[in-house]
Amino acid sequence: MHITNERIMTNPALKIFSLDGKVALITGASRGLGKEIATGLALSGASVVLVGRTLKPLQDLAEELIASGYPALAVSADVSQSQDVQSTVKAAIQRFGKIDVLVNNAGTTWRSSIVDFDEAQYDRVVNLNMKGVFLCTKYVGIEMLKNGGGSIINVGSGAGQNGMANSIAYCASKGGVVMLTKAAAIEWVQQGIRVNAIMPGTFKTSLLEECMVQEPGYAEMIIRNLPIGRFGELEEIVGICIYLASDNSTFMTGGLIFIDGGANAR
Ligand SMILES: NC(=O)c1ccc[n+]([C@@H]2O[C@H](COP(=O)([O-])OP(=O)(O)OC[C@H]3O[C@@H](n4cnc5c(N)ncnc54)[C@H](OP(=O)(O)O)[C@@H]3O)[C@@H](O)[C@H]2O)c1
Repeated sequence: MHITNERIMTNPALKIFSLDGKVALITGASRGLGKEIATGLALSGASVVLVGRTLKPLQDLAEELIASGYPALAVSADVSQSQDVQSTVKAAIQRFGKIDVLVNNAGTTWRSSIVDFDEAQYDRVVNLNMKGVFLCTKYVGIEMLKNGGGSIINVGSGAGQNGMANSIAYCASKGGVVMLTKAAAIEWVQQGIRVNAIMPGTFKTSLLEECMVQEPGYAEMIIRNLPIGRFGELEEIVGICIYLASDNSTFMTGGLIFIDGGANAR
């Protein structure tokens, strides 16, 4: 075993559900939640296609996985661009022959009051968080339909269910992810494609750091309002993704699963 991250290796979620023989494509796999999810899916048996704009960290992760015996492919793509998504799907099919699992994880944010909200930032957030999910769902979905089904896991957010100040584009786009999830789940329920959304609360990633830079006091404000009183640890996102990717969740589609330390219960 060469995987250097002990925290991932010892995650009990890895030992419960097998993804042997499955191929999973994960967007935003270079860092944060996406890297953790991709690694967890790989260690559970899936061959993984790691997608993001910056190739180097994806290649580093792919090399680490391959060195440990886990098949992986790194692909550079902006998932808000149709051509990039289409060529990514093509590369995945060329390498692994099929895609069983799609994790629509790549996402971004911008914090500003509505009055000062920059229109270009609004477009950037909505294009990635919503159109990116649509494009990947469409082009991976075409392959899943040929293959008799699959599991799509959309990474939403508590902000897709509950309003937040200074987050109009993020809230709107994550609310859109909820409806993209439900619409696709209903459309494909008889074709064997299951579509669910996980709804994370706050985890310590570069996305959170960006919010803290854009808005001093942001982290303290979030913690004060969190019933559990702490941020999520990265490994706490993995188990639900392995479960949703596996054949143990075949009756689950159109679901929203909150992993948020109780935030949505308020
Ligand atoms: N962290 C939290 O507390 C939290 C809470 C709720 C929901 N979420 C959601 O969880 C997901 C992951 O968040 P995170 O905190 O892990 O974010 P992160 O650390 O900022 O990572 C974002 C990932 O997405 C990739 N990415 C960004 N723009 C892209 C594009 N246009 N095309 C393809 N890939 C792109 C990034 O790589 P490149 O920059 O190289 O492209 C990176 O791999 C997001 O959807 C976010 O909204 C996060």
